Amino acid sequence: MRRRRTMNDANAQSVGTREPRPYGPGQSHTGGTPVPLVERENQMEIDAFLDLVRRRRSVRYFKPDPIPDEYVEKILEAGRWAMSGANGQPWEFIVVKDRAVREKIADIIKETRKHTMVIERTRAAELRHPGLDTFSVDPGFKNAPVHIVVCADPRTLQATILSGNFYGGDGGPMSTFYKNVANATFLINLAAAALGLGAQWKSINSSWEGPLRDLLGVPAPLSIHCIVPIGYPAGKSASPYRRKLSELVHQEKYDMSKYRTDEQLQEFLVDLRRRTIPGYHVQGNDESE
Ligand SMILES: Cc1cc2nc3c(=O)[nH]c(=O)nc-3n(C[C@H](O)[C@H](O)[C@H](O)COP(=O)(O)O)c2cc1C
Repeated sequence: MRRRRTMNDANAQSVGTREPRPYGPGQSHTGGTPVPLVERENQMEIDAFLDLVRRRRSVRYFKPDPIPDEYVEKILEAGRWAMSGANGQPWEFIVVKDRAVREKIADIIKETRKHTMVIERTRAAELRHPGLDTFSVDPGFKNAPVHIVVCADPRTLQATILSGNFYGGDGGPMSTFYKNVANATFLINLAAAALGLGAQWKSINSSWEGPLRDLLGVPAPLSIHCIVPIGYPAGKSASPYRRKLSELVHQEKYDMSKYRTDEQLQEFLVDLRRRTIPGYHVQGNDESE
């Protein structure tokens, strides 16, 4: 079925000759009616898209105000459309709104944080996370009215080319699985930003995946990857640093003049830490990354 023509399409047509277009979904290049995949001038969309991408921030403190169910639906819809290796779609999303359950999640984090933060204490003092002495403080995201718990089923790896299960990319045979889940998680975060909501990528570490799995009844062999709390931001997020394009883009082949030595990389990491730590203070002493 043809997509309804929009005003933009009409404008685009009047601009003049256009390149031949790729075929739309469901159409092979050998038959059927070709449906233009891209029918309109995209400049406006890319600018709006880049604006959204730059505006999205990790939000770690939330107002308790509820968010409309249709927003949650749209956010989940974005996650559903993520790319995945061989279209394996390993993700499943648990939507947690119940305050009592959210309280329990916070309790689990507080309990295990006592142990995991021991490692942080071994860092040079000026590089330590400022939340070190606040083990018993609730995680900032507890107030977020919706927590999307991102789970995934590793059996979906069988969707992909079999050799991929033996010769994995970086990260080993499971790498495709993790990348897939990351794609869905990112789209969820981006969709929340598009709706003017805050969201965060709260990693699950192995010390609390077990208790969380019990709490939410997640069956083996599914794993829990992260929680994305969503709600209206309480306060402003610090604007994070990004490396410049000129530092990280190489034309045609790797430009060794941009290669960072071990010393330069160490300097980068220390500098990054110094830039990041004040941001924790802006948002509070959550155990954010
Ligand atoms: C794989 C991954 C894990 C992350 N885990 C956490 C986390 O556990 N807690 C947290 O506060 N932020 C977490 N983040 C968010 C990053 O800290 C954040 O993206 C980064 O500091 C840049 O800030 P921005 O998202 O506002 O651009 C994670 C992000 C990714 C991609």
